[in-house]
Amino acid sequence: MQSSAESLRKKGKVIGLVPTMGFLHEGHLSLMWSARQTCDVVVVSIFVNPTQFGPNEDFDRYPRDIEGDRKKCGSSGADILFIPNTLEMYPEKPMVFISVEGISDILEGASRPGHFRGVATVVAKLFHIVKPHKAFFGQKDFQQCVVIKRMVKGLNLDTEVIVLPTVREMDGLAMSSRNSYLNADERRAATALYRALLAARDLYKTGAKEPEKLRQKMRDVLLAEQGVGIDYVEVADPETLASLDTARGNMILLVAARLGKTRLLDNLLVS
Ligand code: PAJ
Repeated sequence: MQSSAESLRKKGKVIGLVPTMGFLHEGHLSLMWSARQTCDVVVVSIFVNPTQFGPNEDFDRYPRDIEGDRKKCGSSGADILFIPNTLEMYPEKPMVFISVEGISDILEGASRPGHFRGVATVVAKLFHIVKPHKAFFGQKDFQQCVVIKRMVKGLNLDTEVIVLPTVREMDGLAMSSRNSYLNADERRAATALYRALLAARDLYKTGAKEPEKLRQKMRDVLLAEQGVGIDYVEVADPETLASLDTARGNMILLVAARLGKTRLLDNLLVS
């Protein structure tokens, strides 16, 4: 992969990378379509990265469907599928990590210690292997996008990070490979995440500007739904992810909640 990426770059081809962990859905495919529109060569990586999972997380049971993924990539504009195994990505016990200080231990990072260190490390490795001019990420994982943009800037990497909107199911639930864990009741209740975000945004639009009121609105909507456990609700600065005490022109609303054993995320930009 590394040497063919090198020669494609030398030929002046624009390389786009869509990094994924597979079990692809429309959200992933939207990144591929966007890459297809602006790049000569679209590389999709599929790798369930062990270093971004905690010891008690779902690494072993993370959903996998390589054959289904191959078909979806084929019809979504991907030119090259890169599916390394763990030994290829980590030939020895990982001793080198990339850590993006300041924003990796809050929100998702507080619930999942070490998660963003694993994400930043694997994405940096993928960037070195694939040498993309552009890399495509989903806003669904908002904090991940902030971490990766900071890493690119902090390490002077030569890759443009492009963030694309969250693709949702008809009822508003953000698409996620982890939605496949939900039973019927949990699936119904899961719409509360997006409803909470919309309710807070509507409250803001009708004049309630204090972030704490918006947080309370999100809590109220989530707690009204049986079986939903709140991990966090936050109103933050979209650049720094710092929690806000007073309203700003641009804010990001973030939620993480548990439905049974499944942890789901969502977010909404408000301006
Ligand atoms: P994964 O969860 O497979 O997601 C791959 C990419 O798809 C991420 O950029 C994610 O934000 C995006 N994505 C997921 N759901 C989406 C949706 N509903 N709408 C739009 N985009 C969506 O995120 C990871 O994998 C990993 O952390 C990875 C970056 C590959 C590093 O291992």
